[in-house]
Amino acid sequence: MDVKIDGPLYSGKAKDVLLTDDPEIVAVRFRDDITAGDGEKKDTLEMKGYYNSVISAKIFEVLEEAGVPTQYLELREPGCILARKLEMIPIEVITRNIAAGSIVRRFPFTEGQEFVPPLIQMDYKSDEHGDPMLNDDIILALGIATRDELEEIRRITLQINSVLRDFLKSRGLILPDFKLEFGRDSSGRIRLGDEVSPDTCRLWDMETGEPLDKDIFRRGEEGVVGAYRRVARMILDDEDIERWNVEL
Ligand code: TMP
Ligand code: ASP
Repeated sequence: MDVKIDGPLYSGKAKDVLLTDDPEIVAVRFRDDITAGDGEKKDTLEMKGYYNSVISAKIFEVLEEAGVPTQYLELREPGCILARKLEMIPIEVITRNIAAGSIVRRFPFTEGQEFVPPLIQMDYKSDEHGDPMLNDDIILALGIATRDELEEIRRITLQINSVLRDFLKSRGLILPDFKLEFGRDSSGRIRLGDEVSPDTCRLWDMETGEPLDKDIFRRGEEGVVGAYRRVARMILDDEDIERWNVEL
C-alpha cells in the first residue's frame, strides 16, 4: 500500500495514530510505553511495541480470514500498522472465558473458574471516570452506541472469541480473557479496531500455566518483553517472519 505518513492525529498510552495522505487510512505506531492501573504504573520496555505490532497484525489477519470485519490493512513494518480510519466507540469490550483479574476481586467468583458461555463485560473507556462498568441502558442514555450497534458488537465479539481461542490453542496458548475496541468505518459499518496483543489479553502457556502477558508487569515482575517475544514466536509462522522481515 503506497501511502505517505503525515502528522499525528491522536496519541494514546501505548500507541500513536498518524494521518496519511489517504483520508481513509491511518498509521498506528506501537510505542514501548507500558502502563497499568489507568496509567498509575508506567515504564518503557525496549522492543515491546515491536513485538505487540507483529502479534496484533497476525491476529487481525487470522480474524479477517475468518470473516471478522477489522480496521487492519497491513503491517507496514514491524512497529507500524496501516489501518482504516474509524470513529472509535468508547467502550472496552471484555470477554472472559476463565475468571481472573478484576472480576475475581469485584465479585464472588473463584480464580480459574470457567465461564460457559463466556461473559461479555462492557466498560466505559474514560480514564477521567475510572472506566466504570456499563449496561445497555447507560450506553443508550450516553448515546455512545445504538441498540443495533450493540447487538452487532456482541455478535462479532463472540465470533472473535471462538476464532481466537481455537487459533491460540493450536499454538499452545490459553485465552482466559481479552479486551476489544470497536469503531465505525466511513460507511457506518462496525469494525474491530485498536490492538489485540499481550497488553490487552491474558495469555497463559498451555503446558506450564504461566502468564505471558501484561500481568507480569502489573505484578511488578521481570521478563515482560521476553514473554511477549515468546508469544510472537508461538503465533507467527515462518512465512510471516520472512515476509515481514521480523527479528525474533
Ligand atoms: P481485568 O481483569 O483488569 O478486568 O482485565 C480483563 C482483560 O481486559 C485483561 O485481558 C486485560 C484487559 N484490559 C485491557 O486491555 N485494558 C484495560 O484497561 C483493562 C482494565 C483490562
Ligand atoms: N490499560 C490500563 C492502563 O494502561 C489498565 C491495565 O491494562 O491494567 O492503565
